[in-house]
Amino acid sequence: MLCPDLKRRKAMPGRIFVAGGGALALGIAAWLLAGMSDATRTAAPGMGNIADGKRLYGEYCASCHGANLEGAPNWQTPNPDGTLPAPPHDATGHTWHHDDTLLFEYIRLGGQAALAARGLTDFRSGMPPFGEILTDAEISSILAYIKSTWPSRIRESQARRNRGG
Ligand code: HEC
Repeated sequence: MLCPDLKRRKAMPGRIFVAGGGALALGIAAWLLAGMSDATRTAAPGMGNIADGKRLYGEYCASCHGANLEGAPNWQTPNPDGTLPAPPHDATGHTWHHDDTLLFEYIRLGGQAALAARGLTDFRSGMPPFGEILTDAEISSILAYIKSTWPSRIRESQARRNRGG
């Protein structure tokens, strides 16, 4: 089951999955697919305090992901060093394409380790680990804040992924 957005982007010339070349597209496809099947940790869905999450987001995440969750400018164009700019967490991004387990691990372990745990070792991640800085409850609050900004249609769609749908 391929992420629908990935399919759409592949068909659009000039977007990252085309511009970035086959290897990157393949790597991201593998990550998206792996993220959907592997449930190693539960992120306590529905938990978290939105106000706390908003404050923590501003403190730890906004510098890369944007003050209003809008992502870095030109986030779909890879940096010269092969990393990606930080994607948006609002409804225009792909955060909602991932289940809570993947989102939680991505924040706790950082991109490199979260992907390595899914067998993807050749991807250079620009997402640092926050497991030593934030508690699990704080990470849940940040996710609760991010989700609170999504329209209900998107929230429901992401919730279905947590149920394996
Ligand atoms: C130094 C810049 C930087 C900071 C700070 C940062 N991120 Fe990221 N983040 C990235 C990049 C770059 C990616 C894109 C994927 C990759 O490179 O692994 C990413 C990807 C992600 C993803 C997975 C992809 C997606 O669409 O959801 C999540 C979830 C995430 N970040 C959450 C956070 C949260 C929450 C914080 C604050 C606690 C944070 N990030 C702080 C750079 C950053």
